[in-house]
Amino acid sequence: MSKQYQFKLVLLGESAVGKSSLVLRFVKDQFDDYRESTIGAAFLTQTVTLDDQSTVKFEIWDTAGQERYKSLAPMYYRNANCAVVVYDITQSASLEKARTWIRELQRQADPSIVIALCGNKTDLEARRQVSQEGGEETSAKTGEGVQDIFTAIAKKLPLT
Ligand code: GTP
Ligand code: MG
Repeated sequence: MSKQYQFKLVLLGESAVGKSSLVLRFVKDQFDDYRESTIGAAFLTQTVTLDDQSTVKFEIWDTAGQERYKSLAPMYYRNANCAVVVYDITQSASLEKARTWIRELQRQADPSIVIALCGNKTDLEARRQVSQEGGEETSAKTGEGVQDIFTAIAKKLPLT
């Protein structure tokens, strides 16, 4: 029998970096050019199958990046096993914001939380402001790297 695991995952990052778009790509393999900004948070699930046929089901909290929702974030990251902190490679300020989220997670979230930093919108290469210094990069629009980032997280989680 292959094993089944379940983990809570939270997405954090500035508004409009593409958190909801990444989740939509991961969960439904779709993309919208005109996505409404998230209100509060959205909940979705998706499962990845690893090489040994074990499955990891992610319970995903897609948080709202607008400043007015900032105080809600601890509710979502408090019990999270993993976090994807997203920035937009065409907006260097969004990387600063992402770093602030990572520091907050390191201080306030569970000490064992697995954190992935994700630079999104790689299809907009011509407008890039942030150089690729390692870390994961994705395009929710083309789907590039999206499956990889979630699979990489699954492999870093304690599968026992
Ligand atoms: P909040 O819910 O306000 O926190 O924003 P968000 O981070 O969820 O961003 P959202 O997914 O709503 O995307 C914001 C805008 O960026 C939308 O118009 C998307 O279509 C666009 N977008 C998201 N991902 C990509 C991408 O990879 N490439 C391009 N070109 N546009 C993207
Ligand atoms: Mg959103």
